[in-house]
Order: sequence, then structure tokens, then C-alpha cells
Amino acid sequence: MPVSILVAYATRAGSTGEVAEAIAQVLREQGAEVDLRQLPFSGRLAAYDAVVLGAPIYNFRWHKDALRFLRRNRFILSSLPLAAFALGPFHDEEKEWGEVRDQFDRVLVEFPWMKLVSKNVFGGKYDPASLRFPYSLMPGMKKLPVTDIRDWDAIRAWAEELAEHFGAETQ
Ligand SMILES: Cc1cc2nc3c(=O)[nH]c(=O)nc-3n(C[C@H](O)[C@H](O)[C@H](O)COP(=O)(O)O)c2cc1C
Repeated sequence: MPVSILVAYATRAGSTGEVAEAIAQVLREQGAEVDLRQLPFSGRLAAYDAVVLGAPIYNFRWHKDALRFLRRNRFILSSLPLAAFALGPFHDEEKEWGEVRDQFDRVLVEFPWMKLVSKNVFGGKYDPASLRFPYSLMPGMKKLPVTDIRDWDAIRAWAEELAEHFGAETQ
């Protein structure tokens, strides 16, 4: 039987959804059955063998839909292997990356009951055209250029590792 994996993600501007889609595609290539769902999730978690949960960081916080997903599904998630990723830094500056990784670690330790098999932080995408109120009114933010430092090779490599963690290729 192929393993059945839920890839659940939160997003505001779409870039995390595209990363989740790439991860889902790799897992499928490795033989898993994958459901790709945007949060909030309303299905039956017990139907899955493993979960990949991804969300962007906004204002130093992981997207609230990902936090809610963890809190609401504590019972079932405490026995499901879970891999978590965050999208965030949109500059290639080591200091920024280090801070975001530390922030993400601090979020994850709030859920010590999770069966966390892997975690990762990926670079994000910034597009002033997709800013929402009140950021859309901030000239400093409107003036920043479009950047997209999502590293698709790193994303796919991580997804391949996950397939091994989840035993996706043992069909
Ligand atoms: C208003 C705003 C605040 C942000 N705050 C953070 C932050 O605190 N830390 C971080 O690493 N990235 C931050 N980002 C970058 C986003 O996480 C990044 O753009 C991500 O790719 C957005 O994901 P989405 O397209 O799925 O919504 C911020 C972006 C915006 C527009």
C-alpha cells in the first residue's frame, strides 16, 4: 500500500502554496498518495500516515492557521509523523536566516508532543503588489522590489528526504 500523506499549508500571497505543491509533486513521484490542502483543514486526519505542514512567517509569527491546525488536532497528530516548514526570509542575509530559524525553532518547541521528523526554513517571495492593509499603505514597504529567493532545488531535495522518512517508496 502506498503511504498516504497530507500536505497542508497556509498562505497569504500564494508563495507557500507553490512550495507545498512542489513538495506534493516530489512525494507523488516517490510513490506516495498525496492530498494537497490549504488550511483550514476540515477532512479526516486519521486517514493519513503522515503530514507535511507549511506556512509563512509574518511579523515574526508562523501563520496562525498552522498554529490552529496543530492545537486543534493534538490528539491525532501526537501519533502521526509530521514534517514542518516555514517560508520567510526574502533577503540572502545569513543574519536574517539565523533569526528566522531560531524563531521557527521557538514555535516548534511549543508543541513537544508532535512527532516531528523534519523541519526546514525556505526563502520566500516578496511582492509589494500583494501587500494587504495596513502594509499596503506603508510607502517603505511599497517601494521594496519584488524578490523571490525560493530555492526549488533545496525544496525538492528536502521533499525527497521526507519521502524516505515517511517510507513513501516502500510500496
Ligand atoms: C508584511 C510582511 C511581513 C513579513 N514578516 C516576516 C517576518 O517576520 N519574518 C520572515 O522571515 N518573513 C517575513 N515576511 C516574508 C514572508 O514570509 C514571505 O514573503 C513569504 O514568502 C510569504 O508567503 P505567502 O506568499 O505564502 O503568503 C513578511 C512579508 C510581509 C509582506
